[in-house]
Amino acid sequence: MTQIVPSILTNSPDEFEEMIQAAELHFSSIHLDIADGVFVPNTTIGGIDEVAKCRTPLKIIAHLMISKPEDALANWLDAKVEGLIFHIESTSQMDKLIDETKNRGKKVGIALNPDTPIEEVAPFVDKVDFVIFMTVDPGFYGSEFREEVLDKIRRFKEQYDNIEIRVDGGINLDTAKKVAEAGADVLVAGSYFFKYGQDVGEALENMKKSLL
Ligand code: DX5
Ligand code: ZN
Repeated sequence: MTQIVPSILTNSPDEFEEMIQAAELHFSSIHLDIADGVFVPNTTIGGIDEVAKCRTPLKIIAHLMISKPEDALANWLDAKVEGLIFHIESTSQMDKLIDETKNRGKKVGIALNPDTPIEEVAPFVDKVDFVIFMTVDPGFYGSEFREEVLDKIRRFKEQYDNIEIRVDGGINLDTAKKVAEAGADVLVAGSYFFKYGQDVGEALENMKKSLL
């Protein structure tokens, strides 16, 4: 069954807390977007302090949209997160990032941007817990869904049937089913849950229905 996970993207520690509380009512895990203003043209909370302060039972996977994640790795390995996502475009040290994260008992995901070919992640696929396809240009809530990534997901699914596929960006009631049919196991949705003032529980039920 396709899993649905909400993403939290904010530059406000107070808003982070509010979103965590809203997510706790309906989910057991969240995707936390971290942007440094360099790898992507947007800046979010740093994440490490906010996660440390926050008392939540939610499992947190941090999506590091940051340049040279190796420079921040030690701090993230100490953070209260279940796993880390690294972008293939952000580093030349992917092996080291994966190995050190796994050695600390955390999950690892490898992310690829809409224009990045599957071949770039191929050497690492067997070592990670999941591959996450960006279906928007990363950095913001509410960016335009890149329909052409569906074909890339289908091709990946044909080649690697046993690797978990996550999809991040532009997931809503129109796109969720298309992405699931292309092969996604986990859908990550941000603005759909948090930006239009809707009830998160109701939005979740509607998305589940759209997948039937
Ligand atoms: C995009 C982030 C996504 C974002 C998705 O750069 O990595 O996780 O939160 O937001 P929506 O669902 O609004 O595209
Ligand atoms: Zn994300």
